Amino acid sequence: MSQYWSPLLAELSPYVPGEQRSGKRIVKLNTNENPYPPSKQVMQAISDVDGTQLRRYPEPASQNLRDALAKYHDLDSSQVFVGNGSDEVLALAFMAFFTNDQPLVFPAISYSFYPVYCKLYKIPFVAFPMSDDFSIDWLEMPNEVGGIVFPNPNAPTGLSCSLTEIESLLANNPNKVVLVDEAYIDFGAQSATVLIDRYPNLLVTQTFSKGRSLAGMRIGAAFGHEDLIAGLDRVKNSFNSYPLDVVAEAAAIASLNDETYHREHVNKIIASRDWLTKQLEARDFNVLPSAANFIFAAPRHIGAKQLHEHLNSCDILVRYWDKPMLQDWLRISIGSAEELQLLINSIDQTSGLKGDAR
Ligand SMILES: Cc1ncc(COP(=O)(O)O)c(C=O)c1O
Repeated sequence: MSQYWSPLLAELSPYVPGEQRSGKRIVKLNTNENPYPPSKQVMQAISDVDGTQLRRYPEPASQNLRDALAKYHDLDSSQVFVGNGSDEVLALAFMAFFTNDQPLVFPAISYSFYPVYCKLYKIPFVAFPMSDDFSIDWLEMPNEVGGIVFPNPNAPTGLSCSLTEIESLLANNPNKVVLVDEAYIDFGAQSATVLIDRYPNLLVTQTFSKGRSLAGMRIGAAFGHEDLIAGLDRVKNSFNSYPLDVVAEAAAIASLNDETYHREHVNKIIASRDWLTKQLEARDFNVLPSAANFIFAAPRHIGAKQLHEHLNSCDILVRYWDKPMLQDWLRISIGSAEELQLLINSIDQTSGLKGDAR
């Protein structure tokens, strides 16, 4: 707190990302990063970037990437927006569509960045209660809403919504923007992008950080009716004309062109997720069925907090929240086969511990 801070700044509660601890021995399963590197074609595209280009600003709309994404998703380029990671795209969308008097609504257990943006923009919001089984209970959603946002698959639960559920939300709220945050869409759920031509109130965000192993490059996108995209462009061009750099754009296009690598590695992660689920269930964990690159699991033989501390002491990082409804659970990113084996070995060390099992 400083005398120079504005009253708004003093009130903010910024998002706290998972720890980025580094070191050779660290098993990092706390931020849902991809355990595999980007494809060789992506690395080649990065090294092919002409260094002399870097003295110039990039083309501000990143049109080549928008065109490539439009082709990939069978959309028109006017229905595509790109930004510096989907966090930035979400921030611009909140500013563009949700700064209303009526509350923005989202499930109480969802991406914890949503309330942070709301506080930044002074957007009223309601985080409506979940069902006991962690599914989204749409009947709990208030009637009067300024907009709707939710992740599909949800984070940190990994549970997914059907397209039928999403379509009825869109049809029942034709005057409000429904934002579907598809950061984890590659790993199992059905993308709502197929509904874009029918619902002008639908905005979908996606990222290159998870399924495409490019978290370090910060590339995100939004898809929707051209009027929504024009709205995002107005906000972007009032904030930062050049959100994507030349190298990131080249990497993103190369990634879209290497679908074989993408599919193969997503499938490996799905297979590892199934393996880890079985291993944990055999050790009496409660594991939610995940459509993401992480699982949400509750140990029964030891408290989740205690297990989190034990794993941390073994340099295995997973995510734990000491919050209502979440305190019995751990969110574990799907790492490489070797990392997951180390995790299981470390969990097995706790089987003799008399923990605070709930
Ligand atoms: C649900 C959800 N949405 C969006 C993001 C942001 O991803 P990025 O900014 O890397 O594109 C994350 C990151 O973990 C996430 O979990």
